[in-house]
Amino acid sequence: MRILKNLFDSNRKWAKKIKETDPDFFAKLSRQQNPEYLWIGCSDSRVPSNQIVGMMPGEIFVHRNIANVVIHTDLNCLSVIQFAVEVLKVKHIIVCGHYGCGGIKAAMGKESYGLIDTWLRHIKDVYRYHQDKLDAIEDEQEKLNLLCELNVIEQVANVCHTSIVQKAWESGQELSVHGWIYSIEDGILKDLDVCVDGVHEISDTYKVKLP
Ligand code: CO
Repeated sequence: MRILKNLFDSNRKWAKKIKETDPDFFAKLSRQQNPEYLWIGCSDSRVPSNQIVGMMPGEIFVHRNIANVVIHTDLNCLSVIQFAVEVLKVKHIIVCGHYGCGGIKAAMGKESYGLIDTWLRHIKDVYRYHQDKLDAIEDEQEKLNLLCELNVIEQVANVCHTSIVQKAWESGQELSVHGWIYSIEDGILKDLDVCVDGVHEISDTYKVKLP
């Protein structure tokens, strides 16, 4: 069991198949990556970024964590955003959540799951911001799905509030931040129509005076 043979076998088959359609595919990619998109999504195994939008390796720069959260002190996520925006110069940042997210569901409940509770606390904050609206919904599934959407919208704002994104806009870099949600039940993506593409669209409280 120390070597996962089935995974290596399917890897060989996958690489062979790609090489058959494009013999230079890996050689070209090994020289550089030039993705236009940064995807910030949930770690959930049912939400694989590239496959959902039918993209090949090299086309999307990806960051995933439980419940697709963007926290202003998370060095990991911020480093990904900084590198994607400043070095790779991606044109789009996509925050993609999904309905029925287990992380969001856990944050809605009172049960403790260990260390992850601390991470999910940020989602409890999102709940609190929209408490009246959410409390008014009786159906638990409906409530969960609305919180999944509200969480995406909140994380889009968090991306826009970073000095990295504000700096890019100030310097005239073309950059849009999108909020999407995916349905595991039918494989369909929905645009939440919260796209932001300039500093004029963000709340004054979070504006950073850049040198
Ligand atoms: Co999830």
